[in-house]
Amino acid sequence: MSAAPGRVLVVVPTYDEAQTLPGTLARLRAAVPDADVLVVDDASPDGTGDLARDIAARDPAVHVLHRGGKDGLGAAYVAGFGWALGRGYDVVVEMDADGSHQPEQLPRLLDALAAPGPQGAPDLVIGSRWVPGGEVENWPWHREVLSRAGNGYVRLALGLRLGDATAGFRAYRASALRDTDLATVASHGYCFQVDMAWRVARAGGHVVEVPITFVERTAGRSKMSRSIVTEALWKVTAWGVRRRAGQLRALVRPRAAARSRVR
Ligand code: GDD
Ligand code: MN
Repeated sequence: MSAAPGRVLVVVPTYDEAQTLPGTLARLRAAVPDADVLVVDDASPDGTGDLARDIAARDPAVHVLHRGGKDGLGAAYVAGFGWALGRGYDVVVEMDADGSHQPEQLPRLLDALAAPGPQGAPDLVIGSRWVPGGEVENWPWHREVLSRAGNGYVRLALGLRLGDATAGFRAYRASALRDTDLATVASHGYCFQVDMAWRVARAGGHVVEVPITFVERTAGRSKMSRSIVTEALWKVTAWGVRRRAGQLRALVRPRAAARSRVR
């Protein structure tokens, strides 16, 4: 691994992941032993929160944030990010609990975050399925179509030059999170990922993608739902319209300013 990027916290949101969380945490602790972990559990009915509490009692690097009820991936991450920033972590990682994001590939993301490129070191590194070298294993075809189409729409609406803006395996520099005004994040579902990538980019942050292999879970089930897709569609469309309106205002305003000078 290259230069250590500082103190790292991996935030793992959970809702009904009792079958998958223990294995994922064991792999994570083995793959990146210096990183701390925060499980953010939304009072999972299957007892994931209690399980996480037991693991945390045995391992001082593991922490748990218990929330009152299911409130969406976005809200869970915002709470986790606040926890990280309040405790002085330098790098904050997002990772799913279900094994789809392979802990063994996390060093790749952390290395990229520490590597100074021509534009300086990145502020956000996204583990991407849809860049050369990236892949997905065992995903049903309709999920792949949805993800590829969703990412195409994001590029069109927001002008974000990213292959995988909805990816949930990422590493942020804490300074970049501080610049994003987390208090105003209203995205509940998976559009949170797009929201955050766009916020970092608009704040002038440098976003880099590295290829990963996303492996579909073998236990438990996805929380993807129709309402998550609908929220993403509406939000991305609204952000895109706002962006176009801003571009239009910037075009019109100089002329208005010039006119008022002539008068
Ligand atoms: N605390 C909390 N609250 N956790 C949640 C919630 C929630 O409301 N909803 C989902 N999660 C957790 C799950 O328990 C899991 O650890 C992680 O968030 C991802 O949820 P999945 O349900 O496994 O997502 P997926 O596999 O369908 O979707 C993947 O692809 C999406 C689209 O590309 C994930 O990688 C998403 O992050 C990604 O946006
Ligand atoms: Mn999953």
